[in-house]
Amino acid sequence: MSDSTPAPDRRNFVTKAAAVVVGGLISVVAPVAGLFTVLDPLRRKTDTRGLVKVASFAALPENGEPRKFPVLDTLIDAWNKTENVPVGSVYVQRTGDGQVRVLNSVCPHLGCSVGFAAGNRGFFCPCHRSSFALDGAIADPKSPSPRGMDELEAVVKDGEVWVKFQNFRKGSPDKIPV
Ligand code: FES
Repeated sequence: MSDSTPAPDRRNFVTKAAAVVVGGLISVVAPVAGLFTVLDPLRRKTDTRGLVKVASFAALPENGEPRKFPVLDTLIDAWNKTENVPVGSVYVQRTGDGQVRVLNSVCPHLGCSVGFAAGNRGFFCPCHRSSFALDGAIADPKSPSPRGMDELEAVVKDGEVWVKFQNFRKGSPDKIPV
């Protein structure tokens, strides 16, 4: 009659081999996991997604002419919280009673700063001559910008204009948050 139980030497060999494999895996995985933990704050995006106050509604001309305002936000990562950091700028216009339109001032073509031509003649980017209407739409079809200026979500609360500031991918016909 044959015995299928492995001999003690064979069992010891299998146990030792398994220990070596498991030990090897742990010695590879642990340092990699530790590296991810240390680098995690660097991989995380800075938090600028809340509403930020950019202007007083009373400061906006009644004729709808845009005014440019800096956007200051609180940046938070795993190590620091820094307040009043400039993260961009916006054009704010009155569009009605307690209503506003807010446009990111960055040109969607390649990211230059768009200027405003006084007298409500619209916006103009000096870098490659894109022009935009007051509502941010492309005014001149020859403009190289692939889309109009990026409108941002905004609310007027207690006489102040609050904006959900966001940047978008440049050079794309689609408004893709970055
Ligand atoms: S960056 Fe504005 S037109 Fe090119």
